[in-house]
Amino acid sequence: MTDISALKAGLIADIAVADTLDAVEALRVGALGKSGVITGLLKTLGGMSPDERLEKGPPIQDLRESVTAAIAAKKAALEQAALDARLASEKIDMTLPADLDPQGSVHPVSQVMDELAEIFADLGFSVATGPEIEDDWHNFTALNIPETHPARAMHDTFYFPDEEGQKRMLLRTHTSPVQIRTMMTTPPPIRIIAPGRVYRSDSDATHTPMFHQIEGLVIDKGITLGHLKWTLETFLKAFFEREDIVLRLRPSYFPFTEPSVEVDVGYTLVNGQRVIGGDGDAADGGWLEVLGSGMVNRRVIEACGLDPDEWQGFAFGTGVDRLAMLKYGMNDLRAFFDGDLRWLKHYGFSALDVPTLSGGVGA
Ligand code: DAH
Repeated sequence: MTDISALKAGLIADIAVADTLDAVEALRVGALGKSGVITGLLKTLGGMSPDERLEKGPPIQDLRESVTAAIAAKKAALEQAALDARLASEKIDMTLPADLDPQGSVHPVSQVMDELAEIFADLGFSVATGPEIEDDWHNFTALNIPETHPARAMHDTFYFPDEEGQKRMLLRTHTSPVQIRTMMTTPPPIRIIAPGRVYRSDSDATHTPMFHQIEGLVIDKGITLGHLKWTLETFLKAFFEREDIVLRLRPSYFPFTEPSVEVDVGYTLVNGQRVIGGDGDAADGGWLEVLGSGMVNRRVIEACGLDPDEWQGFAFGTGVDRLAMLKYGMNDLRAFFDGDLRWLKHYGFSALDVPTLSGGVGA
């Protein structure tokens, strides 16, 4: 005859020391499973007389209930301990830096175009655009560069194949045709800048077949070279974010301006590096050419259907990529268009970095 109380004490003790859910399950199967000890005892009840069952039944039932309860309690305790251990090991460290998604940046050319648009917007200029596939007349003829003019050869133009009865088409070699398109569609006074892509058959460290220019045009009454000089000085001070910008205007020649001036800006040598600012004639200084400009040629004003005795103005043009290189210290133009993400990460900008005459939205 099984000693029920000894069996109960033994099982309860085993359950107490079981330290894994698997061990508890093994004890449950051994006691309460199909061929478990307690199941075996319960089965004997069926063969007993009512009196015997009345005597032996309650201790067996008590054994079953006690062991079932002990197993359930142990299981719950082990599950709680496992959960606690997991929570402790998976603790979130709120002081760790956040794992940010990779962020894009603004390309230096886009950045500089935005800066130019902001600076000239403050001066009352709006942004005009024109097609990159241009016709010969807008790109050359109307700008006082006739068919036989040597300036055409200087532009290394990409021409489209000639088509019978069609205008001769080309990839615009400069943004100056936007001057023509604006004068022909907008009644003066005009104050525009025209940033955009231009194309020439040329490639080395400082030339790419596609590059960016910005054109400026003012048409009004009584405009003089003085207005041109003030505008360029104000623009260059805002762009380079320095007050000590010194300009040098040199007589030059462009077919579409008369007189024409080339504009140099003074730089200072700092540790062997050219830093824009300061008098270029100083001992540690020099001059860098930054712009072509002049008073708009009467013939150009006339070609656009305006009376040059009534309307005058000035124009200027320069390379956006070159301005970016000078301001942000890059030396190989080809890297601008390689699309190398490491380069973009290094030289790129945040969307809010736009200086204006009043200090910029990002300032
Ligand atoms: N279009 C000229 C070029 O590509 C630059 C230029 C010079 C534009 C003088 C102008 C200007 O508007 O007045 O080299």
